Amino acid sequence: QAPRREAFGSRNVFILSAIGSAVGLGNIWRFPYVAYEGGGGAFLIPYLCALLTAGIPLLFFDYAIGHRFRGSAPLAFRRMHRAAEPLGWWQVLICVVIAAYYAVIIAWAAMYTWFSAQLSWGVGNEEGFFFTEFLQMGDVGKTGLSAQFVPQAGIPLILVWLVVIVIMALGVKRGIGRANMVLMPLLTVMFVILVVQSLFLPGAMEGLNAFFAPNWAALADPGVWAAAYGHIFFSLSVAFGIMVTYSSYLKRKTDLTGSGLVVAFANSGFEILAGIGVFAALGFMAQAQGTDVAGVATSGIGLAFVAFPTIVSQATGGSIIGVLFFGALVFAGVTSLISILEVIVAALQDKLGWGRIRTTMTVSIPVALISLALFSTTTALAVLDTADAFINAFGIMAVAFVAVIVVAWLLGRLPALRDHLNRRSSFHVGWIWMLLVGALAPVVLGYLFVSEIIAKVNTPYGDYPIWFLWVFGWGMVISLVVLAILLSLLPWSGRSHAKDDPEYDE
Ligand code: PHE
Ligand code: NA
Repeated sequence: QAPRREAFGSRNVFILSAIGSAVGLGNIWRFPYVAYEGGGGAFLIPYLCALLTAGIPLLFFDYAIGHRFRGSAPLAFRRMHRAAEPLGWWQVLICVVIAAYYAVIIAWAAMYTWFSAQLSWGVGNEEGFFFTEFLQMGDVGKTGLSAQFVPQAGIPLILVWLVVIVIMALGVKRGIGRANMVLMPLLTVMFVILVVQSLFLPGAMEGLNAFFAPNWAALADPGVWAAAYGHIFFSLSVAFGIMVTYSSYLKRKTDLTGSGLVVAFANSGFEILAGIGVFAALGFMAQAQGTDVAGVATSGIGLAFVAFPTIVSQATGGSIIGVLFFGALVFAGVTSLISILEVIVAALQDKLGWGRIRTTMTVSIPVALISLALFSTTTALAVLDTADAFINAFGIMAVAFVAVIVVAWLLGRLPALRDHLNRRSSFHVGWIWMLLVGALAPVVLGYLFVSEIIAKVNTPYGDYPIWFLWVFGWGMVISLVVLAILLSLLPWSGRSHAKDDPEYDE
């Protein structure tokens, strides 16, 4: 007899946790630059289109599957149809890869929270400090994969894993729910203070002008629309199995679509706020260096670990900006990381019928060890960069594409899912939702997927050696699919039938 399925304490805790998952590094370091590049103020149009026609409809789709079939991703898909189980494992494996490197960025950000307080990098040496002193970055082309441990990056990584393992072991209600109840309000407050403080920096207005100035010509570029759709899928954490898993922990009588709208708009609110804060700070940096905003605008690792330390060095009260910024990255990252790990833990709990602690340890320790082996050495950045680029381009786009095709077209489940959404919800969905999920989503996802393949075949990613791209790029993405099929062939010893779960009715 499998133990009783876990649940969130209340719908509000679920909403907060879903926002915690959605609001992540993407909001802070990805969105501002995507928007700036994609037409500034004019980007609002493709962004809103992507949000309303794909992001929110697919968010509802994930909620409906998880809540209707009341299971982790593999179980929910299996209950829909036996042959659909590999889809769930595919999502689980994508989460394994993402978890392994997401933790690394959190660890770096945690160290930088500390460094910010005393400007450890030495004013003027921000870039050299990050790559050479902190990461001790090596060259995979020359040395191959390194086994040389870098303590200042590796030790915080161990600590991050210890913290999230404790949260995961405490379970959905006492671990994940509580962590989000504490961290999300804290994150919001820190974030608002950070943005307000950035607005008072000299040059902030130039930054905002650059961010909001509309470039209408960008709307004619299909690449900008593709960027908007690609960003929205990532930003809302749809098609990762996360929302399927979280919504399986909701009570039967729940307003699903109402919750989804709150989550989606909260996530967008965070993005816009981040855009304002980041560009205000970049405006200051440009002014301090006597260039224009275009000369300093970046995203990702470069924004967080080179540009921001520079701003922290030069601004009055810079240390406070640094502590708030890196602290926000840590909190936003941890609440996303635990949602990624929950996909994996829940899947094995369902499949094997094990208890919470045993499953958490069995899952988290190997993932933590992989994470440490690959990312606490001098070649961490190369592996991280490649895995991130390939999993986003192929893993997620592909699994989302296959999932909508299978569920909508092969299994014809959209009408049933629509009815399920409407049973308790305040916001009703109808044929428009089915059209968006069943027709528009596969077209957009298919387009994004194919254009990514063409791009990555034509121009090998980064300047990494070919063997490296085969192992950590193509090889990784392809082996996930094979492994997913194999995992779905293993027998279930946990709950796979309705009788195991009183709240699930066939
Ligand atoms: N949605 C998160 C963000 O915007 C990223 C994320 C993706 C988090 C997948 C968890 C899982 O940053
Ligand atoms: Na997000």
